[in-house]
Amino acid sequence: MNDFVKDFPILADGRYVYFDNAATTQRPIQVLEAVDDFYKRENANPLRGLYEWSVKATEDYEAARETVASFIGAASAQEIVFTRNTTESLNLAAYSWGNTYLGPGDEIVVSVSEHHSNILPWQAAARRTGAKLVWLECAEDGSYPGSELAKIGPRTKVVAIAQVSNVLGQPKPIRHIADLAHKNGAVIVVDGAQSVPHMKVDVRELDADFFAFSGHKMLAPMGIGVLYAKKELLEKMPPFLTGGEMIEYVTREDATFAEVPHKFEAGTVNAAGAVGLAAAIRYLSNVGFDFIRSHEEKLTTLLMREMAHIPHVELYGSRDPAEHCGIVTFNIDGCHPHDVSSIMDTDRVCIRAGHHCAQPLMQYINAPMRATCRASLYFYNTEDEVYRFAESLGKVRGELGYGS
Ligand code: ALA
Repeated sequence: MNDFVKDFPILADGRYVYFDNAATTQRPIQVLEAVDDFYKRENANPLRGLYEWSVKATEDYEAARETVASFIGAASAQEIVFTRNTTESLNLAAYSWGNTYLGPGDEIVVSVSEHHSNILPWQAAARRTGAKLVWLECAEDGSYPGSELAKIGPRTKVVAIAQVSNVLGQPKPIRHIADLAHKNGAVIVVDGAQSVPHMKVDVRELDADFFAFSGHKMLAPMGIGVLYAKKELLEKMPPFLTGGEMIEYVTREDATFAEVPHKFEAGTVNAAGAVGLAAAIRYLSNVGFDFIRSHEEKLTTLLMREMAHIPHVELYGSRDPAEHCGIVTFNIDGCHPHDVSSIMDTDRVCIRAGHHCAQPLMQYINAPMRATCRASLYFYNTEDEVYRFAESLGKVRGELGYGS
């Protein structure tokens, strides 16, 4: 057990090995209490009411926006749009920016290791506008060689890329790719779902035009996400969803819209989620990204070493544990990943199995049955859990009737 586990009620009894943190993390008591307090002490619809509870809910919602802005180095809180999750953030960018700026013959550069959330919105944008997708193919370790990045050219209007792949874990040189995009007059849309929870991100240092992430992968509740975008871009984009509270004036025929970011937040917002996200950011700031990075690297090194002793296990991605951001994807020869996960579940070891919402990558790496197993770690995981994981993994083939 490490010092953090006691803060996580679901983990505290040590019965489960939770290695599915790339899908969603667990929540510490500090986040649960922040959400609970919101509903117990000040619940009212924010941004509308003129009485104390609503005013307090509005203040806390907007304070959360400030917390997020300073956490990722945004120039102002107006550059932070609250959404439901990374998927919604990327859809917002692809729909609102894409409809405004893309046209026939324009190129949308996407990488083959993207999550479906950063592929499907661009496929739809291409269909609506006549633009076309151009694919970046990765090397075996998940990196993108210069020859692939050279596909970013004068016809490129947008580069859509994850900072960290949810399958291979490999971090990308986002600043370098942003410079290439900008040199060609394109914007860069970064999926930060798997990076923000694990490393210090500064959107201005990266020079990202759009940057999306989810609260639930970084200790916060489900249902709260973020789209960061440069203010000058947001101001020129039309709303994504329309309705309550995103307007200035409405007539029978037409409407004018609120200033950014509220123009992009139609309907009742998830204020409790935003408050929970701010609490999660405070918690993560106390843990510190230096610790998070080094602890994850230490555990990943141990995990890969233990897995190397288990016959018939194939690992995907870099051989260097430092290039995995805590994500280790693998298969066991002859075993369907769903069987592997179900068998390990009987030892209370939780991993993800399937296509990981990255089917083009599954095809590209030629994963048998288009699926893999994935162990994904976080700062509250321990060495003892790695040994329990390895012991359980070592039994799987035998359980399925294979000899050694
Ligand atoms: N995007 C999440 C994952 O990779 C759900 O598991």
